[in-house]
Amino acid sequence: MILRLLKELKGFNLDIYKDKCIKRRIAIRIRKTCCSSAAEYGELLMRDKAEPDHLLKVLTIHVSHFFRNPSTFQKLKDEIFPYLFSLCERETRESLKLWSVGCAGGEEPYSACLLLKEYFAETISRREVAILGSDVNPEILETAKKGIYREERLLEVPREIRDRWFTPEEGRFQLAPEIMAMVTFRQSDLCDIDIFPESDLILCRNVLIYLERSHQEKILCGFADALRAGGILVLGKAETLVGESRKRFRTVCPVERIYRVI
Ligand SMILES: C[S@@+](CC[C@H](N)C(=O)[O-])C[C@H]1O[C@@H](n2cnc3c(N)ncnc32)[C@H](O)[C@@H]1O
Repeated sequence: MILRLLKELKGFNLDIYKDKCIKRRIAIRIRKTCCSSAAEYGELLMRDKAEPDHLLKVLTIHVSHFFRNPSTFQKLKDEIFPYLFSLCERETRESLKLWSVGCAGGEEPYSACLLLKEYFAETISRREVAILGSDVNPEILETAKKGIYREERLLEVPREIRDRWFTPEEGRFQLAPEIMAMVTFRQSDLCDIDIFPESDLILCRNVLIYLERSHQEKILCGFADALRAGGILVLGKAETLVGESRKRFRTVCPVERIYRVI
């Protein structure tokens, strides 16, 4: 009943998520609203207009921070970006397309921008780099567009980068407009495989972990289709290729979960 209601009221498809994960999260709202059962909570969900949004917020986990897993960003800087730019050059492509899927508050795509600005300034002045951040949750995307962060989200940002691109404001940090302008944010659901944008680099970290294996497989194959020749996929440290998708990628770096489309 709860699954059906969320689909009807919010267009949110819970089918793809791991059952255990979803039940645990729904239980949080059942306790919070003092309902005595899932059925009673289902009725509340129908009655109370604000509750579907509260539930959605609990269901999608937005934990993120800048340069999460710094060794992955080091690899992007040392190997992946130089490789992608040379690929672009060789194939005389006009632009490089990056897609951060499940981008939460923008920390991931903005970290990629900071790397590009700091270490590839000359290259990106000659070449268009289109960076898309997408997430299923519209509220978290609004946060991303504001670019204001608490200090705990910035702990892995190297000091000089933080000083150059963030301004302290009433105990928080405002990201420079120049960096924010590099990213376009879009609300979209990973279920919509047919509209995956063409990309050279896909960052999809700490999202698939919440999904059922069969859906992970479908989405990973969708990424393979969306990537241009030689394109790169980066997963989270606890994620990997599954099923048929293993035939679509070659491993570039097993530790950092970096794969190249075949
Ligand atoms: C744990 S955060 C990961 C953020 C970032 N990628 C990182 O690794 O730091 C997971 C994000 O995935 C988003 N998400 C969950 N289900 C999704 C779906 N079906 N389609 C698109 N994004 C989804 C959530 O809203 C959340 O912002």
